[in-house]
Amino acid sequence: MKSREYYLELLNKNIKNPKMIAHCLASEAVMRSLAERFGEDAEMWGMAGLMHDIDVEFTQGDSLRHGPEGAELLRKEEMPTEAVEAILLHNEKATDIKRSKRFHHALSAGETITGLIFAVALVYPDRKISSVKTKSVVKRMKEKLFAASVNRDAIMECEQIGIPIDEFATLAIAALAPIESELGF
Ligand SMILES: [Fe+2]
Repeated sequence: MKSREYYLELLNKNIKNPKMIAHCLASEAVMRSLAERFGEDAEMWGMAGLMHDIDVEFTQGDSLRHGPEGAELLRKEEMPTEAVEAILLHNEKATDIKRSKRFHHALSAGETITGLIFAVALVYPDRKISSVKTKSVVKRMKEKLFAASVNRDAIMECEQIGIPIDEFATLAIAALAPIESELGF
């Protein structure tokens, strides 16, 4: 695996939208926390979070290319096989394989909850992630019209890896709060 600095530069070459970069950095932070919780490899899980959407701009919204093309690019960039697999499977629509491992579900749930937390922060008076309460995130999980594009089923995969949704929200808020200014909050 190459360095974070190398991957971050590669990410910035492929993604121009600052909101997407913020999503990638947020996904990295949540994945690092999840890895620490499970005693997994925090650097590798973090890099999977950081790089999972590398192909999002050059695949131009083609849901059958998003995932496989990023995985292929990252395989050539020395991303470990397990991370490449998790990245491929974060978009199940583009493959016949289903997510089955802890790493797969962690990436799916972890990258997705970042969107919900961003949306919840933006309706707080101070618009800060550090102000977001676990209770608000859990409440918004049930309001399908709020941040409607955020896939609740993907977030609920946290429970398949043994983390109840409230605990998962707490972990994700705690991972994002320290880097909120970097994320544009
Ligand atoms: Fe993503």
